[in-house]
Amino acid sequence: MKQAQTQVQAVVWKDNALRLLDQRVLPREEKYLLLNQVHEVAQAIRDMVVRGAPAIGIAAAYGIVLAARARFVQSPQTWQQLVQQDLELLAASRPTAVNLFWAIERMRQRIPQIAGNPEQALLSEAKVIHEEDVAANQRMGELGAALIESPCGILTHCNTGSLATGGYGTALGVVRAAHAQGKARQVFADETRPWLQGARLTAWELVQDQIPVTLIVEGAAAHLMKQGKVGWVIVGSDRIAANGDVANKIGTYSLAVLARHHGVKFMVVAPASTVDMAIADGSQIPIEERATDEFLSLAGQRVAAPGAGAWNPAFDVTPAGLVDSIVTEYGVVRQPNAEKMAAMMKNAG
Ligand code: MRU
Repeated sequence: MKQAQTQVQAVVWKDNALRLLDQRVLPREEKYLLLNQVHEVAQAIRDMVVRGAPAIGIAAAYGIVLAARARFVQSPQTWQQLVQQDLELLAASRPTAVNLFWAIERMRQRIPQIAGNPEQALLSEAKVIHEEDVAANQRMGELGAALIESPCGILTHCNTGSLATGGYGTALGVVRAAHAQGKARQVFADETRPWLQGARLTAWELVQDQIPVTLIVEGAAAHLMKQGKVGWVIVGSDRIAANGDVANKIGTYSLAVLARHHGVKFMVVAPASTVDMAIADGSQIPIEERATDEFLSLAGQRVAAPGAGAWNPAFDVTPAGLVDSIVTEYGVVRQPNAEKMAAMMKNAG
């Protein structure tokens, strides 16, 4: 199995600052942005410089290190109170990926235990969050690939690879492991409108790994499945409710409906930090709606007919009943429901 360190790193802490690979310009350009202030991190999350649920959480954790550093300089006595507004700023950057709120909460809990300069203690916690995510991905890669009984075509959606995580990837980690085991006969990736995470990011990662990939437009998925070319649809998630309903990139729900119709298996791969046990079902998951310019224009040029209305939800919710398996680092939940999810999450502590 290829190790995470050999793959691209979306989030890097180096020389006391945060570096984010600017995913808006990939694969045309590989450039890291240097961030020294928490408001820059919040902006980078909002603007999709860094995206993908686990990577957003990790970036926010490092953002809190930057925030605490500045607040301690501002006021060594009251930094713990002052920094709370920075946590709120980060929390307001994107609403759907629960990993963001999970990481902020984990960092928040460290704060009262710190006496003196907070930077090292918070940096250690952020690094642990980052490292744990890579380890979780590698474990999920093994568990997910083991579910694939014989070589088949795999269809994935959006980008769930090293770029979307601490490294290796969730659904793309399973694709990587399945490929290494000879189980991925052909890998298909949806282009993923409107940000083209599939065409720009997933294809770029797989080509770098020398894993052959075939891009399709979302609308081709039904036709592809009808031809028997897909055995598994494998996707990540931004938030999984307590009953196993899954929020993920817009278009995922369509794939799940199509998969069930065509007898194709549907796997969701996400770390426990993506599971929100406080939310009973998917109807309560906040769905981000983004600017309609994201698809009314293309490369700065207006393409849609002037005067047309538009709606741009960034995520949708797939009901648990359409999911064959949810894979986390704590195990596989087959035919997910509230009882099975609760049993799995008990292991997560
Ligand atoms: O809008 P994005 O690019 O942040 O959306 C990302 C996704 O929907 C991913 O599938 C999800 O975050 C899982 S990433 C391991």
